[in-house]
Amino acid sequence: MDTNSPHGQLKDRKAPRMKKTTDKLLHLVVSSNDDLLAARQFARAFALGLGFPAHQAAAIVTALSEMARNILLYSGRGEIAIRRVHTARGQGIRVEATDRGPGILDLQKVLLDGQGMSGHHAMGLLTVRRLMDTFVIHSDRQKGTRVIVEKWLQGE
Ligand SMILES: Nc1ncnc2c1ncn2[C@@H]1O[C@H](COP(=O)(O)OP(=O)(O)OP(=O)(O)O)[C@@H](O)[C@H]1O
Ligand SMILES: [Mg+2]
Repeated sequence: MDTNSPHGQLKDRKAPRMKKTTDKLLHLVVSSNDDLLAARQFARAFALGLGFPAHQAAAIVTALSEMARNILLYSGRGEIAIRRVHTARGQGIRVEATDRGPGILDLQKVLLDGQGMSGHHAMGLLTVRRLMDTFVIHSDRQKGTRVIVEKWLQGE
């Protein structure tokens, strides 16, 4: 993780640096558990269609669920976008969760110590980060939170 990033933004260094193009496949407002379920089903079908093995499709769905659960819990409403990502070397899937909720007060605490804002043990974002190949989060007390993750097909 790049701990020298400006406040409110953390990026993993393993993100591929080459040029990427994306196709938007699904853009869904998330304000209920039904929306979360719909996003899960779409992500699973799409990941399998792209050629991810079942266990990796399951990992993508788990990451998406944690991101959507945070939207529902902390913002009440937000959006999930799912995209196919291409580079010269191959393709993958990108999941982006955006909300205009209260933002995360202390990202370092959450991502380095696994501590939620109420002091409890917080696993969601750490799990997302572990399951996916790239992880970027922006959070701002005024503007809300955006989490962007990618998983690449074998060889990436
Ligand atoms: N979208 C969000 N908007 C505002 N705060 C958030 C958001 N997502 C996470 N947080 C804050 O970051 C903390 C850590 O989130 P994380 O998902 O890692 O764990 P958690 O939600 O507390 O617990 P769980 O392990 O059940 O997911 C949360 O406790 C919450 O305070
Ligand atoms: Mg959570």
